Amino acid sequence: MQTRVCCLCCLSSLLLCSSLHLRRLPLQQRDLLLSPPPRQRAEGEEGEVTWVLRSSQDPSTVMQTRVCSLCCVSSASSSQPAASCCMHSALGPPLAAQDPAGHQNSMLKGKRVIVTGASSGIGEQMAYHLAKMGSHILITARTEEKLKKVVAQCTHLGAASAHYIAGSMDNLTFAKQVVHKAENLFGGLDMLILNHIGHTYFGYFDGNVDHVRDLLKINFLSYATMTVAALPMLKISNGNIVVVSSVAGKIGLPLTVPYSTTKFALDGFFSSLRMEFIQQKTNVSITLCIISYIDTDSALKTVSGVIQQPAAPKEECALEIIKGGFLRKREVYYQYHATKIPLLLRDWAPEILQSLLLMNYNMDNFQRKEV
Ligand SMILES: NC(=O)c1ccc[n+]([C@@H]2O[C@H](COP(=O)([O-])OP(=O)(O)OC[C@H]3O[C@@H](n4cnc5c(N)ncnc54)[C@H](OP(=O)(O)O)[C@@H]3O)[C@@H](O)[C@H]2O)c1
Repeated sequence: MQTRVCCLCCLSSLLLCSSLHLRRLPLQQRDLLLSPPPRQRAEGEEGEVTWVLRSSQDPSTVMQTRVCSLCCVSSASSSQPAASCCMHSALGPPLAAQDPAGHQNSMLKGKRVIVTGASSGIGEQMAYHLAKMGSHILITARTEEKLKKVVAQCTHLGAASAHYIAGSMDNLTFAKQVVHKAENLFGGLDMLILNHIGHTYFGYFDGNVDHVRDLLKINFLSYATMTVAALPMLKISNGNIVVVSSVAGKIGLPLTVPYSTTKFALDGFFSSLRMEFIQQKTNVSITLCIISYIDTDSALKTVSGVIQQPAAPKEECALEIIKGGFLRKREVYYQYHATKIPLLLRDWAPEILQSLLLMNYNMDNFQRKEV
């Protein structure tokens, strides 16, 4: 079994990357061993090193796996069935066949994608990235005027096709209609990006449980509804489900009780579903995106001055989410330091994490805001 590593990837990243992926292998493939790398350069791929993985059970197994230069996450390019791929056991053939080195431009060319909450913010930026990659795009949100403008821009940027459907995700019938529209337009679906959020407040919990229930409908139940509706198409395409969550969906944070509740629900539902997909050999990936503070208009308006950390760029965030979905990652951490490090502390040093997080809030600047 072979693994190629691009020259930009350092040895430690490879080892970390390999060990992480090996831990995710199906039972029968877990005895793979990483052998010392013979220095080889593949034709036309200057600077690449070939690593060899051997199976103690079947040393004759040969398979190629490339490691992406941008993120050090390997992407199988094997001609073997996806179920037997070594590094990405869940990697599906149609997307895996793309060249990871050029994936920023080509990884989703011709793919059929739904993006929810795409009239503004991160969702809008995802639509633009997908347009530049030449995807077929269906976007949705409530505000038709904004959606029209985003569709026009997507067409201008090179989308294979761009469409919208306007409506509110507090209506679960509408959530299903979005998926059916994609089916009618594209005849199938490769990627479902669930990103929208309903309006809530940034402030101390006001005791209104009805609001929590209503927000759960928009931020969680509509995600589950769309997933169920899209699953038959995604099974056919070996597609991807991408769920945009937040640090607040992994760690309880102040001033966001209803929001945080809905984001935790996403983790429970989709992480559990992912495990079932593995057991059932359903080749549909689920990527949960753990996102830190991003410079979207709504976030800046809501929390600037209170949360002290700088906001990360929405354009880059959007690309990382798409990339993570394409690479069939379990989870995306963006920005890495602002998400992964708190998560490492969460279980080992919760009191320290709590103190650090509270220091990040400037409560002198705090006023309850509706968002
Ligand atoms: N920005 C951050 O700092 C940050 C941090 C962590 C995680 N995230 C996550 O990233 C995702 C995008 O956030 P964002 O900052 O880009 O948000 P945003 O700019 O406020 O965009 C939210 C989108 O959802 C749509 N929407 C709102 N209510 C809706 C409803 N009832 N039904 C259907 N669509 C609705 C909005 O359009 P309409 O108003 O036209 O409907 C808009 O397109 C969210 O899942 C959020 O939790 C963001």
